[in-house]
Amino acid sequence: MAGLIPKTFIDELLTRADIVEVIDARVPLKKAGKDYKACCPFHEEKTPSFTVSPDKQFYHCFGCGAHGTAIGFLMEYEHMGFPEAVEELAGRLGLTVPREGGVAGAAAKEHGGAELLEIMQDAARFYRDQLREPPGRSAVDYLKARGVTGEIAAEFGLGFAPDGWDHLVRALGKDDAARERLAHAGLAVKKEGGGFYDRFRNRVMFPIHDYRGRIVGFGGRVLGKEEPKYLNSPETPLFHKGRELYGLFRAREAIKREGRVLVVEGYMDVVALAQHGVDNAVATLGTATTHDHLERIFRFTQDIVFCFDGDRAGREAAWRALETALPALREGRQVSFLFLPEGEDPDTLVRKEGAEAFRARLRQAAPLPDYLFQTLAGQVDLGRLDGRARLVELARPLLSNVSHGVLRQMLLDRLAELSRVDPGKLAALMSAGGAATENRPGAPGRAGAGPKEPPSMVRLAIAMVLQHPELAAKVTDRSTFVDQELPGMPLFLAVLDLLQGSPGLNTAAVIEHFRGTEHEAPLAKLAVWQHPALAQDVMAEFQGVLGQLHRSAIKMQTERLLHKQRVQGSLTPEEKVELARLLAEKARHQPVSDRD
Ligand code: UTP
Ligand code: MN
Repeated sequence: MAGLIPKTFIDELLTRADIVEVIDARVPLKKAGKDYKACCPFHEEKTPSFTVSPDKQFYHCFGCGAHGTAIGFLMEYEHMGFPEAVEELAGRLGLTVPREGGVAGAAAKEHGGAELLEIMQDAARFYRDQLREPPGRSAVDYLKARGVTGEIAAEFGLGFAPDGWDHLVRALGKDDAARERLAHAGLAVKKEGGGFYDRFRNRVMFPIHDYRGRIVGFGGRVLGKEEPKYLNSPETPLFHKGRELYGLFRAREAIKREGRVLVVEGYMDVVALAQHGVDNAVATLGTATTHDHLERIFRFTQDIVFCFDGDRAGREAAWRALETALPALREGRQVSFLFLPEGEDPDTLVRKEGAEAFRARLRQAAPLPDYLFQTLAGQVDLGRLDGRARLVELARPLLSNVSHGVLRQMLLDRLAELSRVDPGKLAALMSAGGAATENRPGAPGRAGAGPKEPPSMVRLAIAMVLQHPELAAKVTDRSTFVDQELPGMPLFLAVLDLLQGSPGLNTAAVIEHFRGTEHEAPLAKLAVWQHPALAQDVMAEFQGVLGQLHRSAIKMQTERLLHKQRVQGSLTPEEKVELARLLAEKARHQPVSDRD
């Protein structure tokens, strides 16, 4: 367990960071009144409804409902975890993230983030240096034999893990702590009876960079025919195979320039393609393509070409990629599939044919709908009625994963054509199958109606202090309006406590305080709620709302006492005094029916 990040640090972070700067660096913003706008990065749109408020330090999309603080934005947009997003913001401001509590040693482990990165770099340097040592000769010969130039090897930082049990451990594991860190980084393995040995031995080493260019893992290839052919870093705090793509950092400029990315299967494919000038290729790390992979890639380009070997394994991998891609499809996103001749991979092919011929193949890649229907049609007899019915059944679960829109309609039209089922009937059939999802799975940061939404008056009060935190200081006498039983009141009081305890917090900081609680979603909604009372003269409106709450409280307390009197027949002397006071107080206010 990581040591906890103190809330006060999050407060400080969110009052010092500037969300406009954070977002603008990733999604260019235009000033619009006192806010900033852009086309929403979380859904497809032509007119900007993504709004960033510097006052609230909060973003919100009026189109898809995505919203959040600077921390939330980094989590959604960069696919970072909470601590990662906090580290990133803190790093920009030159702050160190403090840790508190937790298991002993947790903090030390967590600092590890930076330390582990450093170890990875040191290890990469060590492996690189080995290529110039005599034992590295075999690796250099191997790479040369495969046609890898020294130049491209240097560009990819290729290296060599020498044969033997503890070359790396001896070079970098000066003391126990250092050896533990090597093990933690996945570079060394701890022995049962104590001691450590190198995980990678006698292998050509491929450093794996994350999208920010930091080395987070390694892949190591044997020089001969031993098994396993490739050994990869295990999952570590830095390395997650299901998220990283080999070569992405180096390829990102080319991907943007060409407007398209090529996803291949192997390290050597990426290296060989780059050597021949095809710079926009990335590889998965021996795992199937994941949803995270796709979302990461779609942030760079809307056009993905998957490239698979023409063998059975390749076709199976392609189909899995198709299934993963379907829910991620939206208007404007294109996914295609290229199958290479059996026995070839991009590495062998580009060396054989050259880049131009390879690019020509790319242009022949099958768009996802073509590939989908060709494959399904190949499994049935379209000449027979029951074959066409079977086609509909096969397509149904797949198409139900595509969000509603033009693309889904086009797929349905194509299915109608092939199955010769009337399009109207087909649409009905599809929705009868259930599963048709209106919401995109994984759509970011949807507010969603919280289970306990306070009624409008308390909601307005909360929205006011949330959007104008300075109002909290104006609340001096709570006894006049506090009725704990008024739904939403405990949340209002919690927000007041927070703001009065730490004056100067902005909207974003308040919301972050409630991250992970049931209040998070309702608060996020209230932070951008547009209500006339929030537009002008908020101070006066706020006094009015407090007045209403006051009357509400009196009414409720009165009713409770009257109810008790009815049910039990009598009240205590104190209760009688209280009731009289309440009734007098109530009479002072003109009759208002203010409970909604
Ligand atoms: P391939 O077996 O297709 O190898 O594995 P390749 O990339 O063509 O390798 P070369 O050309 O023989 O060097 C494709 C990818 O699958 C993962 C690696 O990421 C590899 O690049 N893999 C493969 C493993 O993780 N472990 C293995 O044992 C084999
Ligand atoms: Mn290969």
